[in-house]
Amino acid sequence: MSDIHRASTTAPVNIAVIKYWGKRDPKLNLPTNSSLSVTLSQSDLRTHTTASCSASYSKEDSLLLNGAPQDVSGARTQACFRELRALRSQLEDSDASLPKLAALPLKIVSENNFPTAAGLASSAAGFAALVRAIANLYKLPSSPTDLSRIARQGSGSACRSLFGGYVGWEQGSASDGSDSVAFQVAPASHWPSMRAVILVVSAAKKGVSSTTGMQTTVATSTLFASRASETVPRRMQEMQNAIQNKDFETFGKVTMMDSNSFHATCLDTYPPIFYLNDVSRAAIKVVESINAAAGRIIAAYTFDAGPNAVVYYLEENEKEVAGLFKTLLGEKDGWKGERGEKIEGNFAAA
Ligand code: PMV
Repeated sequence: MSDIHRASTTAPVNIAVIKYWGKRDPKLNLPTNSSLSVTLSQSDLRTHTTASCSASYSKEDSLLLNGAPQDVSGARTQACFRELRALRSQLEDSDASLPKLAALPLKIVSENNFPTAAGLASSAAGFAALVRAIANLYKLPSSPTDLSRIARQGSGSACRSLFGGYVGWEQGSASDGSDSVAFQVAPASHWPSMRAVILVVSAAKKGVSSTTGMQTTVATSTLFASRASETVPRRMQEMQNAIQNKDFETFGKVTMMDSNSFHATCLDTYPPIFYLNDVSRAAIKVVESINAAAGRIIAAYTFDAGPNAVVYYLEENEKEVAGLFKTLLGEKDGWKGERGEKIEGNFAAA
């Protein structure tokens, strides 16, 4: 029986407050603008991944997600495998005593601690965990920055899940993508009272994939160019300052305006892309009423490529924000976490 080499890791979900939308190079997943996100805590939404390799495995690489076999032949997954194997081969070439792992078939087993079908950002945590698990298996001396460069090729937003806390993704300018990497703006401990409540409006899979959506937006939206070249660069700076200063009013305002700007370019895409639905818009109204009652911004909504709302708030406003959503929706079963909470329901009637 041949040896089985194995390593495990976890990676959390991140939710962008300045959205990545548009690829200048679809093959390398190079973005048309920088982006910034908050990484949820590990106890909330995360992927746990074990990577192993052995000469005893059947020849093909394989990936099991929540017990179901996944297709690994896609260019994105293949790019991650190829890059990691190349780094391992370099190590093996420089040290003949190392076991020859790069040539062995890989078996990846991943589990999400939240329903994958819930339409929550799972590819970010998934690719970040996959890349780090294989890097650990291969004992690569790679930094989170190096791994972010590889995970980016699996799913753009995955590069940001290699860091905790408040994380930027620098679009970079090199055509080979060498400078398109994630960086930590601040650790979670810098502003530990940040909370997120996730409103699962629909558990259905998104109608238009982010890759297809981005390509169509870049090709047809008239609003897109100014978003990428003027609006986002300015907001990246404003957002980083807000985080450094723990200024929730600016953090919240820029988060909501950037979500609106991203969805405006979706609507301006031809044919138009509708990710928000009536329940999403009702969630926006609830956040607006919370802020109006407080007389300042204490809650901030943001939506990815789907109708589910993520609402950021500070712990001190738990009652006014998460408490109010719970009251509107009634007690629902669902996942509960330390820095985020999932609330399912429909509050269109609210
Ligand atoms: O990483 P992808 O290809 O799933 O794209 C993610 C795009 C958004 O979630 C809408 C925005 C973001 O920055 O995460």
